[in-house]
Amino acid sequence: MRIGILTGGGDCPGLNAVIRGVTRRAIESYKWDVLGIKNGWRGLVVGETEPLSQYAVTGILPRGGTILGTSRTNPLKNQEDYKRVRDNLEKYSIDALIAVGGEDTLSVAAALHKDGIKVVGVPKTIDNDLSGTDFTFGFNTAVSIVTEAIDRLHTTAESHHRIMVVEVMGRHSGWIAVMSGIAGGADAILIPEVPFDIGELCARLKKRHQRKSFSIVVVAEGATLKGGQAVTQSDRVDAFGHVILGGVGRMVADEIEKCLGIETRLTVLGHIQRGGSPTAYDRILATRFGVKAVDAVKDGEFGKMVALRAENIITVDLEEAVKTTKTVDMELLDIASVFFG
Ligand code: F6P
Repeated sequence: MRIGILTGGGDCPGLNAVIRGVTRRAIESYKWDVLGIKNGWRGLVVGETEPLSQYAVTGILPRGGTILGTSRTNPLKNQEDYKRVRDNLEKYSIDALIAVGGEDTLSVAAALHKDGIKVVGVPKTIDNDLSGTDFTFGFNTAVSIVTEAIDRLHTTAESHHRIMVVEVMGRHSGWIAVMSGIAGGADAILIPEVPFDIGELCARLKKRHQRKSFSIVVVAEGATLKGGQAVTQSDRVDAFGHVILGGVGRMVADEIEKCLGIETRLTVLGHIQRGGSPTAYDRILATRFGVKAVDAVKDGEFGKMVALRAENIITVDLEEAVKTTKTVDMELLDIASVFFG
C-alpha cells in the first residue's frame, strides 16, 4: 500500500506536524509506503515527488512552513492539468491520497473523489473558516502572534496617546481578528461578517477618548465598509480567483485621524501571522489530524475530511465541509464588544 500526501494553498504552522503524523502512522503502524508530493497540486501536475521515511520527518515537528512546499495551483482550471494529476496518481502507484489544505485545495480533493480517486482531506488554514471542524490548525498560532503584537502595541499606544490600527489576515471571516481582539483587549474590531460605518466607528472612539487616551482597532483584511467592497492591493487574482486583499487598515487609520484629529498609526501583520513555529495546541491538533487521516485511509473512509468536534477527532463529508465558509460566532463578537468602551 502506498499513500501520497500533499500540502496546498497558503502555508500554515502545523503542516509539518501533519506530515510527520501521517508518515509515522503509515510506516510504523501499517508498514505502508509514503510518497510526498511537492508543492501542492502542482506536484501532481508536473510529477514532482519525494519518498518520505521516518528519517525524512525527524525534527520537523516544531518547524513552520511545509517540507513539501506548497502552491495555489488549481488543476480544475483546465482539463489537461486534471488529466495529468490523474495520470500521475497512477504512474506513482498512489493507492490513496491525503490532501492537506483549505477550501481551495480540498475542493480539488472533493472533485477527485467524485471521479473515483481515494482521497482523505485534512483541514488547514490560519483563517479558521472551514466548516465541518471546530478549529483548523495554524489558527491558534496566528491568534497568539496577533495577541502578542496587540500587547506590544498597547504600551506604545498608551505612551504616545495614539490610536493603533492593526490589520490582520481573514479573507472571508474575522476569526483571527475577534479571537486576538478578545485576548489582547481590542477597543474596536472590524470583520468581514459585519460591514462597518466609519462615522459610527469614529463616534465610538471619540466617546472612549473622553476618558482614555489611546485605542487599539483590529481590522480583518476582508472587512468592508457598509455597501462597499473589500479593499484589494491590485486587480490580480490567484488560480482560485481570489483577489489579493490588503489596504483596509490604511483606509481606516486615515479616516480615523481625519475625523478625530488623533494621531493614528497602522501596523499590517501580514505573513508574519503564518510564519514560524506552531504553538503546542497546533502541534497537537495537527498531529492528531495526521494520524487520524491515515486511520481513515485504513478504514476506507474516502471522500472524508478529518475534523475536530467537541475535543474529538472525527471524519466528516469532504464535499459538505468545503461548501460553506465558517463565519464568526456572533456571540464572540458580542463578548469582545463588552470591552470596547
Ligand atoms: O488563506 C489564508 C490566507 O493567509 C488569507 O488570510 C490571506 O488572505 C491569504 O492567505 C494570503 O495569501 P498569499 O499567501 O497568497 O499572499
